[in-house]
Amino acid sequence: MDKLIIEGGVPLTGCMTISGSKNAALPILFASILLDEAVTLRNVPDLRDIHTTLKLLGMLGCSCEYQDGQVCVRPGSLLPEAPYELVRTMRASVLCLGPLLARIGQARVALPGGCAIGARPVDQHLKGLEQMGARFELDQGYILGHCRKLNGAHITFDMPTVGGTENLLMAAVLAEGETILENAAREPEVVDLAHFLLACGARIEGQGTSRIHIAGVSRLHGAEYDVMSDRIEAGTFLAAAGITCGELLLRHCPVNELKAVTLKLQDMGMKITTTSEGVLVNCARPLRGVDVTTKPYPGFPTDMQAQIMSLMCLAEGTSVVKESIFENRFMHVMELERMGAQIRTSGHTALVRGVRRLAGAPVMASDLRGSASLVLAGLAANGTTEVRRIYHLDRGYERIENKLNSVGARIRREKE
Ligand code: UD1
Repeated sequence: MDKLIIEGGVPLTGCMTISGSKNAALPILFASILLDEAVTLRNVPDLRDIHTTLKLLGMLGCSCEYQDGQVCVRPGSLLPEAPYELVRTMRASVLCLGPLLARIGQARVALPGGCAIGARPVDQHLKGLEQMGARFELDQGYILGHCRKLNGAHITFDMPTVGGTENLLMAAVLAEGETILENAAREPEVVDLAHFLLACGARIEGQGTSRIHIAGVSRLHGAEYDVMSDRIEAGTFLAAAGITCGELLLRHCPVNELKAVTLKLQDMGMKITTTSEGVLVNCARPLRGVDVTTKPYPGFPTDMQAQIMSLMCLAEGTSVVKESIFENRFMHVMELERMGAQIRTSGHTALVRGVRRLAGAPVMASDLRGSASLVLAGLAANGTTEVRRIYHLDRGYERIENKLNSVGARIRREKE
């Protein structure tokens, strides 16, 4: 297992290029199951979750090639089984359920268990697919699904779920008749999936709103598609500029999809300007505390909660974080405290009292975004920080230490 060793205290300066979005690429890769022709995807990040997905697509009967951010998926004769060994390493594997039912009328997909940030049930995925005519039973930890043909339906989600909306959207594009998804997730990654499906001949309206309308078609053709840039990676690097009092130019930064984050960072005292070359961010003055509540898009993303908390640790005054999406997403708090942060949590709320400096320490990452928050804290801390268990980080950030070192950070990777 690898760890990162960070010598803190260097202001980051220079240019970085934002990678393709993991959370957009994953559903788009699963959507390739729906096509009867090959698809070429560009701007696919080189991440562990992407390679897990390609492996799973291979087991489902597709043939996949990955080279330099480009993936080609060719359809084959499909098999219905997503085994536990893969699903347990990546919850997003459940996104093959909708496409498999739509294409071959059967699926055997391991039920993803709980994960570090909470229970994360998939009841909304199953309820929606049942409304479209699928039937499910649980067999030895596997969801067994079958249907003769999926039919369009009027589905209202109990809460806006990103994965649920994506699974149902993929199922509906090949279903018989019309589907309406109400209280749908409006996240940019859902919109990117819809744009990909439209490029393959699907008929979809209302993506990016909470009411998506889909008219089923009998087949989808191949396409070439560029995946959107990763708004969470971009947000993390904006935060890196802020916490080190540096100046960065981010190329391919999806600034329109990051408004809730940039507004908060500006409230904290950072300057963020869009130029013809990219987004320029700097922070010449001490950060100020702010209050943040995570919400579904267009609200403040839960995937940026841990990172902004690291900034709050060094901001003047008191900040309040309310996590309203996942029940157990404060695992980074105890680790930040080991570096000298002053944080009190009560239920879903964290009160952060800013301190003048953080001190390097050995810390342990327990989930993807929590790991990013520890890297940020390490970049600003006095002395050396060791972030252990960084396999979480490798699931979601492409070559993070190389990218940060290219703008002045001092990070090295070592085997534990
Ligand atoms: C996706 C993102 C993840 C992000 C999250 C919220 C991917 C691969 N992952 O996760 O990075 O943090 O959106 O923006 O894109 N829920 C249910 N029942 C369901 C489905 C969800 O109760 O059937 C609940 C969840 O427990 C959670 C909330 O709904 O409290 C939102 O979850 P959801 O939007 O589905 O998250 P994911 O798609 O798993």
